[in-house]
Amino acid sequence: MKIIMLGAPGAGKGTQAKMIAEKYKVPHVSTGDIFRANIKNGTELGKKAKEYMDKGQLVPDELTVEILLDRVAQEDCKNGYVLDGFPRTIPQADVLDKELTKLGDKVDFAINVDVPDENIVRRMSGRRACLKCGATYHIEHIPPKQEGICDVCGSELVQRDDDKPETVQNRLSVYHEQTQPLIDYYNEKGILKSVDGTKDMQDVFSEITGILG
Ligand code: AP5
Ligand code: MG
Repeated sequence: MKIIMLGAPGAGKGTQAKMIAEKYKVPHVSTGDIFRANIKNGTELGKKAKEYMDKGQLVPDELTVEILLDRVAQEDCKNGYVLDGFPRTIPQADVLDKELTKLGDKVDFAINVDVPDENIVRRMSGRRACLKCGATYHIEHIPPKQEGICDVCGSELVQRDDDKPETVQNRLSVYHEQTQPLIDYYNEKGILKSVDGTKDMQDVFSEITGILG
């Protein structure tokens, strides 16, 4: 099963993608997580990506497409995957479509996690993330058992550099300009499913499993 998660920054794509990955036993592939791991390890790709990410802009397609195609070509992606944060532009979607067509394959579902802009800034300011294992929390909605410490691996939780309110506003406008058109793109392909992302995370997940079966 090949699934794409669509939605504004902070809509809950990562939260739901992790739950989907666990239930349907497919890898969770997040381009944002790949970039953040590269930044943490000080790689060339990380250095380049950070310049864009810190401003709330998209990393150029030339850099992004290649790392994504490399990742989904790995053995563990053979039976499917859930893509979180890719594609984010029409050219990225076209490349993915072309590569899958070559393999006689296709995306099965594009799930749009719908959350209005006014809810987003509030969510982002409360997000805390574990840079070691990728777990995500929210200080009010999904708090860790011990403040500031990851439940999964015990590492320290941090606020992402791009979660400052002014950067979030920028990410939202970039989303509306460049990523939102993908909703029509996948709707025209007949695989778009929208879920109400303002509900409790378990209720959002029930809606998604109702779609995926
Ligand atoms: P990326 O890491 O993908 O960030 P994003 O799209 O901005 O999305 P987020 O991770 O911020 O939000 P999310 O939807 O995953 O929400 P989450 O589940 O964490 O990308 C970062 C940057 O990398 C981009 O800006 C760009 O520069 C670059 N990049 C990445 N991919 C790229 C690409 N393909 N092309 C070009 N550039 C790319 O939830 C948010 C918060 O809300 C959390 O605290 C969570 O606990 C909480 N929450 C989740 N669900 C609920 C709920 N139902 N109710 C209440 N709270 C909830
Ligand atoms: Mg995410």
